Amino acid sequence: MKKEKLIKKYDKQVKIYENHRSNQKLAGWRNKLIKNAYGKVLEVGVGAGANFPYYNRNNIEITGVDFSSEMIKSAKRTASHFQVKAEFIQADINELVLEHNSFDCIVSTLSLCSYPDPIAALSKFNNWCHQDGIILLMEHGLSSNILLSFAQNVIDPLHTKISGCHCNRNINKIIEKSNLQVEYIESYWSDIIYLIWAKPSKESFDYNKA
Ligand SMILES: C[S@@+](CC[C@H](N)C(=O)[O-])C[C@H]1O[C@@H](n2cnc3c(N)ncnc32)[C@H](O)[C@@H]1O
Repeated sequence: MKKEKLIKKYDKQVKIYENHRSNQKLAGWRNKLIKNAYGKVLEVGVGAGANFPYYNRNNIEITGVDFSSEMIKSAKRTASHFQVKAEFIQADINELVLEHNSFDCIVSTLSLCSYPDPIAALSKFNNWCHQDGIILLMEHGLSSNILLSFAQNVIDPLHTKISGCHCNRNINKIIEKSNLQVEYIESYWSDIIYLIWAKPSKESFDYNKA
């Protein structure tokens, strides 16, 4: 799908993502993951700021990235409501250039499903995260249940056309190929949802200088 079309799709879904913020199941998982964030945090695909209530306001400074202007506007309102220190960059993650080793923590929730190349996105996270920093992910993907994964594969083209995101990404394989050093992983709903605590890959190098 063309980038401009995808951005418009997300612009139009801002109300849906604002409503998602009160989803109790997601809220529990967000809380479990996000409370581990600290220092200079880069939140990629920040959406409507659904993670903001769960950050420890005393020790974080967030940079939120999203290519949808409507999502950024909504995230700004959420940041102000929850009094979290945040600045925003409206940019496509695929084109974004940030300094090597410049964040203590990278957060991505429900976003790997949207990128054309999720492994390339994770390489960027590796690159931007300090070697002793942390990468926190809550992602959805292909179930380990054969019937569910069959259904996910069948509906994926329509799902992507409607929502802009893939419902059949193989999160395990993506993480494996990314070389992230997984410290802890949990999965739910027959492995459709993953919570991942990881360190950047040891081979991470400065792509800006390559
Ligand atoms: C499925 S939503 C998830 C939003 C939020 N992280 C959450 O947990 O509710 C994906 C978000 O990523 C953004 N996004 C998708 N592809 C992107 C890209 N290539 N660059 C920047 N943002 C992108 C969308 O605009 C949207 O806000």
